[in-house]
Amino acid sequence: GAPVEINVGKIQPGQLIRAEWRGKPVYVVRRTEKTVNDLAKVDDQLRDPNSEEAQQPEYAKNAYRSIKPEFMVALGVCTHLGCAPTHHNGDFDQFVEGVSEGFFCPCHGSKFDMAGRVFQGVPAPLNLMVPEHSFTSEDTLLIG
Ligand code: FES
Repeated sequence: GAPVEINVGKIQPGQLIRAEWRGKPVYVVRRTEKTVNDLAKVDDQLRDPNSEEAQQPEYAKNAYRSIKPEFMVALGVCTHLGCAPTHHNGDFDQFVEGVSEGFFCPCHGSKFDMAGRVFQGVPAPLNLMVPEHSFTSEDTLLIG
């Protein structure tokens, strides 16, 4: 499939936008500074905090699983049976202990953090997949 271009300059802090790439949903979130800082807080509640088993490009093997900490890029496809996880920010009292934001899969209750990393004790075996992506300008994200 052809690469998909996204103007990330239009994404508000905290906002998620959806795109489609190779027939699959891609989620792009402009993470706030708080969201970025909260990532480290949940490391000990995650199944694979360093994404050793996850499908992701080499350049996303960092604490944010992305090129720029501000932007999360991941497939919106649960690694259990493929449902679309929903973004929750403050509409659960606490999404998990100590943090109010994350992704929840409505099919069987898997939870992921704001880097798409799966929590322990849920059916999904792996972190959300991070597709190949790059920035072709300050505000232009290319998926694929
Ligand atoms: Fe997401 Fe089963 S498909 S938890």
